[in-house]
Amino acid sequence: YEKEKDKLAPRPPVVTIMGHVDHGKTTLLDKIRNTHVADKEEGGITQSIGAYQIEYNDQKITFIDTPGHEAFTEMRARGAQVTDIVVLIIAADDGVMPQTIEAYNHAKSANVPIIVAINKIDKPNANIELTKQQMVSKLNLIPEDWGGNTITIPISAKTGKGIDELLEMIILVAEMQEIRCIPEGKARAVIIESRVDKAMGPLGTVIVKDGILKVGDDFISGSTYGRVRRMINDRGESLKRAVPSTPVQVLGFNDVPNTHSIMYVVDSKEEARALAEKIKEKEEEKSKGPAKRHMRL
Ligand code: GTP
Ligand code: NA
Ligand code: MG
Repeated sequence: YEKEKDKLAPRPPVVTIMGHVDHGKTTLLDKIRNTHVADKEEGGITQSIGAYQIEYNDQKITFIDTPGHEAFTEMRARGAQVTDIVVLIIAADDGVMPQTIEAYNHAKSANVPIIVAINKIDKPNANIELTKQQMVSKLNLIPEDWGGNTITIPISAKTGKGIDELLEMIILVAEMQEIRCIPEGKARAVIIESRVDKAMGPLGTVIVKDGILKVGDDFISGSTYGRVRRMINDRGESLKRAVPSTPVQVLGFNDVPNTHSIMYVVDSKEEARALAEKIKEKEEEKSKGPAKRHMRL
């Protein structure tokens, strides 16, 4: 990576939306994307990580939606780790809640900048001042207009109020972060979600970090490997190539990859298989080790 430093180029920011259950994360992304994902969710609860790319004033932004339900701690932790910026949503009619605090702690330990969006300000019982007081007392975050340095934007994901300002702030914070990538060459991507589809087999949702991921590329990801058979973007379109910060669903894994593992493109299928098998052996050795000891006891 050091060697390639002079070849670095800007890439779009990856922004993760986090917050307590039902505080409006998916509705905000729906509004930004002009879609209705939240309406179709089982019980109105997000159960997976969704990744989308939008364009605002000619600037691309990649968003990751995360679940707010307390059961999904792991997904929130992962969401905070793959991101450049966290938008912490706090509903103004509910205030700072347990998963608000938890999400904040993930963002803090990932050392990423936080923008607070105070949502649902259209509701008659919204209380922006009280929410800000709770930001201070429960999160130790002081809003900018209270003399602190936490960018805090009142929004309504329902009416759209404040969303332009939020997007402008995201772009501003991203510019200050100097978000860079290696723009060409073999891709490196991070797996943000994986599953088996009945019809399509093992699938990985990935965000390209460096290089260009292409259909036909051979790759490894931990002990799994494969060849990119098809890539589908967040609008359901097939892509031939994916540049940095693009989220895509990849078909062609031999097995379900671990979320959060890194996918590397290699030179050939043989190399991919050999590397993956070596990693698998190592993993098996590791898991055998403690078991043997246990048997002796
Ligand atoms: P989880 O992913 O399950 O944690 O929820 P979420 O944070 O994605 O919340 P979601 O977008 O599912 O919204 C929860 C409820 O709040 C839905 O009924 C939304 O219509 C409503 N809602 C979201 N944003 C607003 C808003 O700005 N104003 C009003 N009045 N309702 C909102
Ligand atoms: Na919800
Ligand atoms: Mg949601």
